Amino acid sequence: MSWKLASHQQHHAVAPHIYRLHFGLEALRPRRSWDVVELRQSVDSDFSWSGTVLSHPSWGSLVELVEQPAGRQAQLSDYHGQLLARPGDQLPAGPASLEVRLRIKRDPQACYFGLGQRMGPMRRDPGSYCNWTVDPPSSGHHRGIASMYQAQPYLMLHRPGLALGLFLNSTWFSRFDLGLEHEDEITICTLGGEAELFVLAASTPAQLNRLLAQLTGFPMQVPFWSLGFHQSRWGYREQSEIAELVAQFRRRQIPLDVVHLDIDYMHEFRSFSFDPQRFPDPAGLAEQVGQQGVRLVTIIDPGIRFDLHSPYEIARQGCAAGHFLRNADGSPFTAYCWPDAALFTDYSKAEARQWWGDQQRFLVERGISGVWIDMNEPATFATPFSQGFSSQLPVPLGLASGEGTDATVHAEVHNLYGHQMAEATHQGLKRLQPEETPWVLTRSAFVGTQKWAVSWMGDNHSWWEHLALALPQLVSMGLSGAPLVGVDIGGFFGNTHAELFERWMEQAVFYPFMRNHSALGTRAQEPWAFGPEVEERVRQHIQRRYQLLPYLQQLAEDSHQTGAPILRALFWEFPDDPESALHEDQAMFGEAILIAPVTRPGHTHRQVYFPPGSWYDFWSNQVVEGPTFKVWPAPLGKMPIFLRGGRAIPMDSPRLSTAHGVERRIWWVFPAEGPGSARRSDQTLHWQDEQFRLEPSLPCQVVMRCKDTTLTREYP
Ligand code: GLC
Repeated sequence: MSWKLASHQQHHAVAPHIYRLHFGLEALRPRRSWDVVELRQSVDSDFSWSGTVLSHPSWGSLVELVEQPAGRQAQLSDYHGQLLARPGDQLPAGPASLEVRLRIKRDPQACYFGLGQRMGPMRRDPGSYCNWTVDPPSSGHHRGIASMYQAQPYLMLHRPGLALGLFLNSTWFSRFDLGLEHEDEITICTLGGEAELFVLAASTPAQLNRLLAQLTGFPMQVPFWSLGFHQSRWGYREQSEIAELVAQFRRRQIPLDVVHLDIDYMHEFRSFSFDPQRFPDPAGLAEQVGQQGVRLVTIIDPGIRFDLHSPYEIARQGCAAGHFLRNADGSPFTAYCWPDAALFTDYSKAEARQWWGDQQRFLVERGISGVWIDMNEPATFATPFSQGFSSQLPVPLGLASGEGTDATVHAEVHNLYGHQMAEATHQGLKRLQPEETPWVLTRSAFVGTQKWAVSWMGDNHSWWEHLALALPQLVSMGLSGAPLVGVDIGGFFGNTHAELFERWMEQAVFYPFMRNHSALGTRAQEPWAFGPEVEERVRQHIQRRYQLLPYLQQLAEDSHQTGAPILRALFWEFPDDPESALHEDQAMFGEAILIAPVTRPGHTHRQVYFPPGSWYDFWSNQVVEGPTFKVWPAPLGKMPIFLRGGRAIPMDSPRLSTAHGVERRIWWVFPAEGPGSARRSDQTLHWQDEQFRLEPSLPCQVVMRCKDTTLTREYP
């Protein structure tokens, strides 16, 4: 059945460069309290909307409808049923089954990017991209997967002079079809009975990221320690093992800031519990490792063990207060997760979020510094975990969620489950420790989650292919508004090996979030697990991360202020250089460092594309003038890294953790042309148009590397 969309439509600018197009049955449906959009007021702008074409004097036509948007009654079978629902499920009645479809013209001159977390190439090929959070099967991290843990219904298109964002503000299942149904069109469809599309228009990707952050939130500020190295593993079963792990790092002089405790620390997989035998004194452990500059982060799963009769009060409390998801008849919904039958907090209720946030007290009182939230797509198993692994069984789409004007079915808030869990956890930590910057790591996310949490890309494999896909995946996250990201170093599933692990560590020095993590039963992959030679090089990689911390800290701060990614696609920095849009096996770490990782076994050289400008080899005295291609040496331990002429990079002397002191700061200055002259006034160094703050408490050296000479000045 097809139906007509309301003729009364609301189209208006919400910022000078952001235009809202709204098509729906009910143009004036009340907004939900969880709306991720922060700009709603109508403002004056130069956009003009003809009824089918949105244009702007700076860029001409931006969006052109191929035909008037249409609506229709959808069936589950129209979608990727296995992702979305349980066998026998149906789309719930009401807006949940009303699909709105927009067809717009594809710009043949543009390249397409964004669309959040995907396994595919950074440049989005023609294809169908679903937005629905799932825990993919362990074999599921491949290009054919329709969606992953996170949903970001945000498409970016770019051609020199224009960076355009299309954000579909729909939390329901949605899909972007790029040139598949109709070769020269983009089709955007969503359930929910309305399509609200925000069009963000800018001249550069940098301006576009800022607009996206203005619309959906700026990335959170991260505590300094979280930028250091994190060690994790599913399978550290004893408190003594953690103490010994940290002692090993220190004995071996390998920098480390954080150890993650996976589900093994819990008592029978109860969230907010420590196993009394295996982890008898978590506060003592936190204190002990804290003295060595190391913090603890604990995993927390949303599935609360369905246990109403033991001293474990959380299930009882949550049931009594109505904080859990309910079946349509009002009874609590249960499903299998780690603790077998579990209850699931309904984060779409403000009171439940507050209650969940308060539960963090248990962790904070035991000296835990950050919270890792997992399985929050939400992921549930077909059979009890105590009987072994089984496939996923989706949460029924018709479950009752929210309350008051937010009352709805799960289908509307499914994509927000991880997002709202992240918000609740972040806010809880903030309330409990107002003087600390909260740190939350989440697996599932939506557009806007960047305000509440860092995320990682889930359960990858120890495969070269996954190492190669990590860079396009992470830069795509940055283009989609989520810069605080990383992937499991070494690969999660499967057994890594020395060469792969080393190449992964080389690359991961430049991840915004740097964590070594692997699955239960896989081979050891601590930095020393591959013998002394690998250990030595890995130590140097981690030390490099620590040397770069002042630069990374600056990038994280810029990201918080402007929405800029930390790990950047080349074209983000060089938007006028068409070649830059083609290279996804290289990236910029901030504006000053170009990385060209090796992601193939046995390779000792690789081709490097040098964008316009001068590039200083990190390892030698060579300078290359871009744009050009060169084959560059890339032996193990010396991944190609280049420093951009005309920029300066602060680096600290290496240290064992961010809690340890720094001996000196070095500003590495790379002149674009000739050395120019540097001048010092008070604590500021002036060089060309740049100014560098010299840390008053730190002896500082300025090293100016010029094409044929290196000048060094000391500022004691
Ligand atoms: C999930 C997480 C993984 C974690 C495991 C056990 O698979 O993605 O990182 O180690 O659960 O908690």
